[in-house]
Amino acid sequence: MPTIPLPSPPERARRPALEPARLPTTSADTSAGVRVRRADATDLDALVAMEQRSFSSDLLSRAQYRRHLDSDSALVLVASDGHQHVLGAAVLFFRKGSGVARLYSLATLPEARGRGIAAALLEAAVTAARRRGCRALRLEVRSGNSAAIGLYERRGFHRIGHHPGYYEDGEDAWRYEKPLD
Ligand SMILES: CC(C)(COP(=O)(O)OP(=O)(O)OC[C@H]1O[C@@H](n2cnc3c(N)ncnc32)[C@H](O)[C@@H]1OP(=O)(O)O)[C@@H](O)C(=O)NCCC(=O)NCCS
Repeated sequence: MPTIPLPSPPERARRPALEPARLPTTSADTSAGVRVRRADATDLDALVAMEQRSFSSDLLSRAQYRRHLDSDSALVLVASDGHQHVLGAAVLFFRKGSGVARLYSLATLPEARGRGIAAALLEAAVTAARRRGCRALRLEVRSGNSAAIGLYERRGFHRIGHHPGYYEDGEDAWRYEKPLD
């Protein structure tokens, strides 16, 4: 059991929107040929499948994804290849009056890992938070998730907190922040 209260998403953060009108449908292709865009309702099946294949606890439900796709305080990004298959996804939350955005979720399908997809999603998330006027982007990550920790630390995130038993299965979380100035 967590030793700290866990608010429900979007308050909580395993995983923080650009104003919909200001977010381009697609962002630039990366060197890996990955395209990142804002998700829409047609991505729901892929998002739910990604969730189930990427996380063992604290999963976002289909209903939660549907809500986040429609919300001004959430931004769901998907990464695809030239064939338009969804290979990765990120979920960001924004809170009114707060200059801190939260990266709640970042995942790449197991068969597409190691191709720069998470890096492209993270870059798009940082850009989105900046455009929204946020001064920082925060996230929580499992203390044993060395792949994700390395990814964040190499992209300017620094550790600002430790939360014992944060996750449903009891694993600790590190909280990270990247200043966006
Ligand atoms: C962590 C995760 C998102 C990485 O996705 P990915 O698309 O394979 O990552 P990328 O190919 O963009 O690689 C990003 C960096 O991480 C490194 N990396 C990726 N997988 C790694 C692994 N298993 N071990 C060590 N480093 C790894 C890459 O070498 C790369 O290094 P760089 O910073 O020098 O560029 C992916 O493994 C995943 O979905 N895991 C399950 C869900 C999860 O843990 N999400 C993060 C916490 S919310």
